[in-house]
Amino acid sequence: MNILQIKNLNISYKEKLILKDVNIDIKEREILCIMGASGSGKSTFLSSLNGFLDEIKGSFSGEILYKGKNITEIKKLDLRKNIATLFQDSTVFPFSIEKNLTYPMEFFEGKIKNKDEKIKELLKSVNLYDEIKDSLKMNANKLSGGQKQRLCIARMLTTNPEILIFDEPCSSLDENNTLFIEKLLKELKEKYTIILSTHNFNQAKRIADRILKIENKTLKK
Ligand SMILES: Nc1ncnc2c1ncn2[C@@H]1O[C@H](COP(=O)(O)OP(=O)(O)OP(=O)(O)O)[C@@H](O)[C@H]1O
Ligand SMILES: [Mg+2]
Repeated sequence: MNILQIKNLNISYKEKLILKDVNIDIKEREILCIMGASGSGKSTFLSSLNGFLDEIKGSFSGEILYKGKNITEIKKLDLRKNIATLFQDSTVFPFSIEKNLTYPMEFFEGKIKNKDEKIKELLKSVNLYDEIKDSLKMNANKLSGGQKQRLCIARMLTTNPEILIFDEPCSSLDENNTLFIEKLLKELKEKYTIILSTHNFNQAKRIADRILKIENKTLKK
C-alpha cells in the first residue's frame, strides 16, 4: 500500500521556488533515502510531509496524501501524531530522560496508564534501556551524543506514529554510533515507514530500499 502519495508538488519560500513537480509514492514499511547537495531542498521537502512548512513560512501547491487523505484536511496534531519527524537540529529536551518521554505522551494523550512499563518498552525499542535503566531521573543533556539520538528516536515513538522522518539523523555522530543508528532504523522498519535524508551515499546504500536524489529542483531516481 502507498502510505504517502505526492502529486505535482511545488514548494516555495515567498517567490523562491525550491522544488517543482515532485511525484512519488511511498510504500508502507520501506526505507526511502533522500539525497542531494546542501541547499537542494531535502529539509524543505521533509518539512512539507507533516505540514511543517506553514511554521517556516514556506508554501506548496499540488497534493500530499496520507493514506489517501489530503494532509491539508487533517488536523495538524493528528498529522504529527502519525508522522513523527526528527529535524536536523533537534535534540533532547533539557529534562530528565523519563520526562523526555512522558512529556509528549501527556501532551498527546493526557494521563498515562502503565507509565513505567511504557518508558521501559520505548527505551528497549531503541536499544537504550539496558544502558540507562538506573538513571531515568538524570537530565538527558548528560547522555552521550549517540544516546541522545536514540532517546530522540524513542521520543518519536511515544505517539504510535506510522511514518518516521529523519533529517540527517547521523550527521553529528561518529562511525560506531552511525552504524548503531542504521541497525536500529532497519529494526524499526518492521513496524514503521521511514524517510530519511543523508549526505552519505554509503549509508543510503546500506539501509535504503530506495534512494531518490534532488536534482534540478526535483526528486528523481
Ligand atoms: N525558512 C526558510 N525561508 C526561506 N528560505 C529557506 C528557508 N529554509 C530553507 N530555505 C532555503 O531553501 C533552500 C533549501 O534549503 P534546505 O534547508 O531545504 O536544503 P537542504 O538540502 O536540507 O540542505 P542541507 O543539506 O544543508 O541541510 C536553500 O536555498 C535555503 O536557503
Ligand atoms: Mg537540510
